[in-house]
Amino acid sequence: MRESTNQSIKPVTTKVNEKGNLEIGGCDLVELAEKYGTPLYVLDEVTIRSICKDYKDAFSSYPKINMMYASKALCTLATSAILSKEGFGFDVVSAGEIYTVYKSGAPMEKVLFNGNNKSFDELNLALDLGVGRFSVDNFLELSLLNEIAKSKNKTADILLRITPGIECHTHEYIQTGHLDSKFGFDLTQIDEAVDLILNEYTNLKLHGLHAHIGSQIFETKVYHDEIEILVKELARLDEKFSLKLDEINIGGGLGVKYTEKDLPPSTFEIADVIIKSLNASIEKYKIDPPTLFIEPGRSIISTAGVTLYTIGSSKQVPKGKKYIAVDGGMADNPRPSMYRAEYFAQIANKPETAAAEDVTIAGRYCESGDVLIDNIKLPLIEEGDILCVFNTGAYNYSMASNYNRVQKPQMVLVNNSQSDIIVMRETLEDLISHDVVPDRLKY
Ligand SMILES: Cc1ncc(COP(=O)(O)O)c(C=O)c1O
Repeated sequence: MRESTNQSIKPVTTKVNEKGNLEIGGCDLVELAEKYGTPLYVLDEVTIRSICKDYKDAFSSYPKINMMYASKALCTLATSAILSKEGFGFDVVSAGEIYTVYKSGAPMEKVLFNGNNKSFDELNLALDLGVGRFSVDNFLELSLLNEIAKSKNKTADILLRITPGIECHTHEYIQTGHLDSKFGFDLTQIDEAVDLILNEYTNLKLHGLHAHIGSQIFETKVYHDEIEILVKELARLDEKFSLKLDEINIGGGLGVKYTEKDLPPSTFEIADVIIKSLNASIEKYKIDPPTLFIEPGRSIISTAGVTLYTIGSSKQVPKGKKYIAVDGGMADNPRPSMYRAEYFAQIANKPETAAAEDVTIAGRYCESGDVLIDNIKLPLIEEGDILCVFNTGAYNYSMASNYNRVQKPQMVLVNNSQSDIIVMRETLEDLISHDVVPDRLKY
């Protein structure tokens, strides 16, 4: 079956240029590091658009498709504008994500608000800005949203987030009657929720059901099982409540290739399973074809991103590891220290030099666990070399912190030999701009 962009470790425009340096989007990475400083997030526009096209081509045979991008993977004004222009809507989980998408100019009716503990202020803002769908997660939210909608004389269009009893992360797949998860209504709670919506919460309009079964998924069968459960529930609710729901949202989750070990399916493989399962379930449970929402995050944005670091000090532990330290680490990419995520890297100024030693790439933060890559074969490294870590577009900047009071890096978008800053590097003044000193402590 056709391959897709999420199956590549590197951005699709990556090559070695005539200077012998790595180049992405027609931009020499060593020159980018010199021009903008490091650490630097680099995002390749062609790669983002290429995976969007993969998704659109893959799902083209199911006309009632609604593609949303899960903003939690990376949410900026520029990326929101690109994805909106590619025809994607947005899955958002906070006032900050709602506001970013809104300010990017994206149509708010294509936004779905998700989350297990949305606040009054967030629901209020979402209704004011015209968010198209709320994925209601629990009983408290049902009543809160109804109350706020009523006070504005509005109707909130909702899905119910359910836990279908399936959870999948990479190769692990658990299926249980009910899942110990903080998200969504258990299958046994759906009827009570529907009853409340139909009989009490008259400012809510229920359109369908929503589930999300995990992230960095390599298996396709889980989507088959998830769809079967969702469609069965639609048919059951129709029979019990005479309620014709016509939307299912199956969440995100498609994996990406961080290292050679990772073998994620293509968008075409998962679309094939999803569409076939949906058609089979529609026939089996005799319902009209629902609109299908998908909301991938990682697989849309991860491959497009790389992070550039400058190599600094090194330490050879006697009879042990050789540590090479870079000028970033767990604050710009918390994934290795949070869940032992693995990455591939090359030296941008000597990508074709043969590997000569096993090294461990250490971050600059004051934690022993701040290791970006544990054991990678690289050419002999010198201070000042530029390290390019691949596949850092998703859950890097969006999870970044100011630990050790270090400024977050800037982000540049590259395309057609041009580079544009899309997130500015924080300054030292930015770091203290929210601090307040009470008068009694002033000198
Ligand atoms: C409800 C929901 N939808 C979509 C996503 C995006 O998942 P991924 O980035 O794995 O595609 C997530 C991620 O946690 C999620 O919780």
